[in-house]
Order: sequence, then C-alpha cells, then structure tokens
Amino acid sequence: MFGQAVRRRGLLALVAIVSSGWLAGCGEGEDDGYSTADAAEAPGVSVSVPDLSDTALQGAELFGANCSECHGASAGGSSQGPPLVDKIYEPGHHADFSFVRAVEVGSPQHHWQFGDMDPVPGLSPEEVNKIICYVRELQYANGIFADPAGLVACQG
Ligand code: HEC
Repeated sequence: MFGQAVRRRGLLALVAIVSSGWLAGCGEGEDDGYSTADAAEAPGVSVSVPDLSDTALQGAELFGANCSECHGASAGGSSQGPPLVDKIYEPGHHADFSFVRAVEVGSPQHHWQFGDMDPVPGLSPEEVNKIICYVRELQYANGIFADPAGLVACQG
C-alpha cells in the first residue's frame, strides 16, 4: 500500500519533468524523434497562406523584416534556415515560449545543419507575439496542428 503510493508519486514526478521539458521547447542534442530533419530536404517547403487575422498580418510584416531572410517567405525555409511550418515546430513541441527565447537569446544548431541562430534584437514582446501568431496561423492552415488552442498568441 505504502510502496504503491511512493511509486505513484515517482511516476507523477517523471511526468512533470517530461512535460516541463516538452513545454519549454527542446534542448541541445536531444533525441526526441523530431530530430530526423535533414537540411537537404528543407529549403522551400510550399506553404499555403490562409486569410490572416489582423494580428497575424502585422506579424507577417515583422517576419518579413526580421526572420524571412533565413526562415523563408511564409516561413517555408531557405538555404539559410529551416521552415517553421514544420511538424517540429508544432505548439506541442515548440511552445510559444521557444519562439520568444529563440528571438531573445538565439538557438544553437540542434535540429538542422544550418548553423546557429543568433538573437534578433530590437523586437518588443508584443511584436514577437504577433510573429508567433503569424507562424501559428500558417502552421494551422497547413495541417501542422489541429487544436485551435495552439493559436493562443492570436487572442488579443
Ligand atoms: C540568420 C538566420 C536566422 C534569422 C534571421 C532567424 N532565424 Fe530562427 N533559426 C535559424 C536557424 C538556422 C535555426 C535552426 C537551429 C537548429 O535547430 O538547428 C532557427 C531556429 C528557430 C526556432 C526554433 C528554436 C528552437 O527552440 O529549436 C525558432 C522558433 C525561430 N528560429 C524563430 C525565428 C524568428 C521568429 C525569427 C525572426 C524574429 C528568426 N527565427 C530569425 C536562423 C535564423
């Protein structure tokens, strides 16, 4: 009886650890089944652009000025960086916070072969949120995720 309770608590702790890592995005060198992406197949996935919300439209402009140089037009990737409209970056695996963090502190090369991403200076938290909304609406429209909860960045 006692032993069972302890085991259960251990399991809960494990679940907490796993899900916190999951929500925070992914660490370097992590083997999580998402890391099979290969730069050779990356540049230029075709992205269909839906009718965007006002927030996403503003995000699209900011994305064009700050991110598309590497992440491509419509976040479809380029020879300098990966597509963000990719299963790897679905909300369940790269939560919105991982976008905030990538912009603030950059992202070491770990999923692809493009090299590191440097921080992108000069964007306010509101602007980053608009960019996230834009990328999420593109992901949603292109079947990367199906639960509208993933569009939380677009709610105000
Ligand atoms: C100079 C090129 C470059 C620019 C500009 C750039 N990125 Fe990146 N970004 C990369 C590369 C390369 C990676 C992939 C690193 C890896 O996983 O190997 C990346 C990865 C990311 C990731 C995933 C981070 C993670 O936790 O795995 C996000 C999110 C992201 N970029 C968002 C953005 C946003 C938003 C902007 C614009 C504000 C931006 N990037 C501008 C090159 C760039």
